[in-house]
Amino acid sequence: MLLLLKEALLKAKNELAKINSSAPYLEAEILLALALDVERPYIYLFDYLNDIQEKKFNYLLKKRLQGVPINYLQGKKYFFNLELEIEEGVFIPRPETELLLEKSMEVICKKNVNSLVEIGVGSGNIIIPLALKFPNLKFFGCEISPKALKLALKNAKKYKIDDKIEFFLGPYLFPILLRNISIDLIIANPPYISSIEMFYLSKEVKREPWNALYGGFDGCKFYRELLKEIKILDKIIMILEISPFIINKLQRILNLYLKNYSLEVYKDILDKERVVIIEWQNI
Ligand SMILES: C[S@@+](CC[C@H](N)C(=O)[O-])C[C@H]1O[C@@H](n2cnc3c(N)ncnc32)[C@H](O)[C@@H]1O
Repeated sequence: MLLLLKEALLKAKNELAKINSSAPYLEAEILLALALDVERPYIYLFDYLNDIQEKKFNYLLKKRLQGVPINYLQGKKYFFNLELEIEEGVFIPRPETELLLEKSMEVICKKNVNSLVEIGVGSGNIIIPLALKFPNLKFFGCEISPKALKLALKNAKKYKIDDKIEFFLGPYLFPILLRNISIDLIIANPPYISSIEMFYLSKEVKREPWNALYGGFDGCKFYRELLKEIKILDKIIMILEISPFIINKLQRILNLYLKNYSLEVYKDILDKERVVIIEWQNI
């Protein structure tokens, strides 16, 4: 017997609500669109699913109910007017990270920035829109995950900006220092979840790569290591995403590692500390 579209929608919506999906109806529509192989608005042109479509739909719903994030099933994520490819093993960009991008754009416009590096490019959601907006700057992207690096390059190719960005596989600033590249700005949305917080992450978030989430016992490992590395530079501006839970710890770490720095803290739309801008001079 053929499965009616509205029955499939209702079934999926109810099942997804049970796993606390924040948008069960929307997700049900997305799963149906994937099963029917059409864009979401077109699902309502169908009255029912044939056997193959129903099998595909049940498979996708099962995966989603097991905790696979909807973006991994879709293979895409919208971020700042871009449609980026996403795959398992690569961090899914979050809406709050748009603040990091906006602050980066402001700093590039205000300060004398000629070259910048993003550490931890993920799918390319920060470096690609920056390279599109400021094509005359030099862009470098470092990443420790070969899978993420490959995907960032693929997304950069999709937006025909791959010739403007040099991607390197390696940790922190290491690939930049190794090549003696001069940079004015460092941008990063690093892993900043502490050991305790990792324990309480949802099943879905736990499907994302550990390397993109875990920030050491107190969530600050990345910031400490980065501050050690910048010591050999003359001066630098850093725009970093943070967790609101670590702002006090970060201030203590900055005082410990740096002299002559300024710090600005910006809150996201939920009024949580989300981005810091640190300007430092080696005198
Ligand atoms: C939270 S994700 C951010 C991805 C993307 N930039 C964004 O804003 O959505 C952190 C990324 O940094 C990478 N990463 C973690 N530690 C790193 C390190 N020490 N050096 C370079 N990349 C690192 C991870 O593999 C991951 O892709």
